[in-house]
Amino acid sequence: MKVLGIETSCDETAASVVEDGRRVLSDVVSTQIDIHRRWGGVVPELASRNHVVQLMPVVDEALTRAGIAPGDLDGLAVTSGPGLVGALLVGVQAAKALALAWGKPLVRVNHLEGHLVAAFLAEDPPEFPYLGLVVSGGHTSLYVAEGFGRYRLLGQTRDDAAGEAFDKGAKLLGLPYPGGIAIDHLAREGDPRAIRFPKANVKGGPLEFSFSGLKTALLHHVKRHGVPQGRALADLCASYQEAIVSALVQKLFRAARTLQLDRVVISGGVAANSRLRQAVAERAAEYEGLKVLIPAVRLCTDNAAMIAVAGTHALLRGERDGGELNADPAWRL
Ligand code: KG4
Ligand code: ZN
Repeated sequence: MKVLGIETSCDETAASVVEDGRRVLSDVVSTQIDIHRRWGGVVPELASRNHVVQLMPVVDEALTRAGIAPGDLDGLAVTSGPGLVGALLVGVQAAKALALAWGKPLVRVNHLEGHLVAAFLAEDPPEFPYLGLVVSGGHTSLYVAEGFGRYRLLGQTRDDAAGEAFDKGAKLLGLPYPGGIAIDHLAREGDPRAIRFPKANVKGGPLEFSFSGLKTALLHHVKRHGVPQGRALADLCASYQEAIVSALVQKLFRAARTLQLDRVVISGGVAANSRLRQAVAERAAEYEGLKVLIPAVRLCTDNAAMIAVAGTHALLRGERDGGELNADPAWRL
């Protein structure tokens, strides 16, 4: 079963062909990072316009690299939410037109479900049920994945997402967008205990996250001391990163212990963070039998292969969408 996935929810235009929800035949991602960098973040209108320009060449490339024609497809899957409404609309309208023209079934996919099931493209895929943490520029959400199409939300952020904390923090420090990569890089040379940042705890919500206080603490620090250079900048990045990572790790393992789940999957752009990967591995070593899966960076950041995986199982369940399908920017999983 070959499914074409289409993803345009934020600033990546992506298309991918996946076979049987397991094998990536092609995975094309056209990123707009260079376009948005000069504005210090994603500009929604620019994102939509660039999706319009990029999408059909990206779809063509995905089919060519997979070595197949549209007639060989068994269906299409498209991200219809959550995300930027204008950006989502480009993907949704294109997918509807292609499905109609090619006479193929179409199904919508929730972007967060895509992140949660990206691990099925890894060499050693997880087994249900597992604890799934989605950490990206727009989301910090903890789920129990019970089966394809069956997810239970345990907790999420009350304000900024973890990736947003990285991006906004980086902006305050004059570092380029996307901030997570810049901070990750600088932090490698820094001391994570150099500066004390507040722990991102939420009263009454043991599995909820909050990162806006941390960002404010960084703002006050910079107002008081200015933006440091060299070693001191590395220390500041490492300390700020540590505050984000320790909040994520703490809640993740608290959930694993409380729910007695011994499989954990982490995905989303922030899962690319080297300190998070290291901290999770260290902590997991303390729990006998706990298995942590963080897919390769390419599968963690936005891509269409993960959308094709979720879409394959939705199609197998008999789900279909037609001409009435619309973008759903606030779609909750
Ligand atoms: O999943 P993603 O590609 O797009 C969204 O759905 O948001 O995630 C993008 C986010 C950005 O906030 C970016 O700063 C962050 O992932 N990110 C990182 C790293 N690489 C990307 N954050 C921390 N460390 C990284 N190495
Ligand atoms: Zn994402």
